[in-house]
Amino acid sequence: MQHCPDGKMKTEIIRILREQKGEFVSGEMLCEQFSVSRNAVWKAINRLKEQGFEIESVTKKGYRLISEPDLLAKESIESYLSREASVFCFDEIDSTNNECMRLAGNGAPDGTLVAADCQTGGKGRRGRNWTTPKGTAIAMSILLRPQIAPQNAPMLTLVSALAVAKALQENGVKEGLGIKWPNDLVLNKKKICGILTEMITEVDYINHIVVGIGINTHVESFPEEIKDIASSILLETGIKINRSKLIADVYNCFFRYYDIFLKTEDLSGLKEEYDRLLLNKDREVKVLDPKGGFCGTALGINERGELRVKLPNGEITDVSAGEVSVRGLYGYVL
Ligand code: BTN
Repeated sequence: MQHCPDGKMKTEIIRILREQKGEFVSGEMLCEQFSVSRNAVWKAINRLKEQGFEIESVTKKGYRLISEPDLLAKESIESYLSREASVFCFDEIDSTNNECMRLAGNGAPDGTLVAADCQTGGKGRRGRNWTTPKGTAIAMSILLRPQIAPQNAPMLTLVSALAVAKALQENGVKEGLGIKWPNDLVLNKKKICGILTEMITEVDYINHIVVGIGINTHVESFPEEIKDIASSILLETGIKINRSKLIADVYNCFFRYYDIFLKTEDLSGLKEEYDRLLLNKDREVKVLDPKGGFCGTALGINERGELRVKLPNGEITDVSAGEVSVRGLYGYVL
């Protein structure tokens, strides 16, 4: 068996202990698994304990996992991933999107994942700021190097929104969850997640894309000016999701949907599932078009991710996210 590097060994130990669901795993088995000495296993276990993993060690029985901390750690995220990925995890960073861009410039591979516990210069859409307070939210970015036409890239934002919704559902967040077109995740009519996709293109091809996802997992209070339109999963449901697990689940879901998207380079394979989560569907929307706004009923998306809107005269027009923005007639979404 191959010798296992230190970080990888910790990742695999977490995975093995977790799979045993509270049963003991012998030290001997772990030594064999990684072709290392008992002392090396013991050291790795101690480092995990220092990171907050509660692991019981009993002579002649081995080790068993009692609880996992809600910490953002590379090994913890990796232990939940369903495919190999290059993972970078920071206590603090300006913006995970910026870091992902920097890594891309240094040749980081497709699928590189950057996560941070806190962002000091988090970026939102339309030049706004995005706050990621320490220990209570998720900031993650995924680097993509797809061979697709640049004009198809904006659809990836809708793919990402679908992935986040799916990952949240898998973690028990179901009631009241939906997508406000094109890519805001909304829970009980309040925004809990935003997505910022940035792209570097050459003349006619994409060099790389960074998909940045911010999720308010357990933020407990919001500034006065946004408290009526923003919330967190904890505030809305009482559920405190382990953030490393959610980051990995979002990543795993993203690649499931991304593979479907890549087959056709459009949303034809995802449209139905997206429409089921679309909060605007069958509701009145106000389209804020710089060339002149109008009202209508949202019907769902087309295979390019544009919103199909039925006008009062019965005509149907397709609205593209880059050009216009959509408001619910009454309040934030509805
Ligand atoms: C929005 O305005 O709705 C988009 C917010 C996107 C925030 C995320 S947090 C992770 C990534 N890094 C950033 O600086 N922004 C995105």
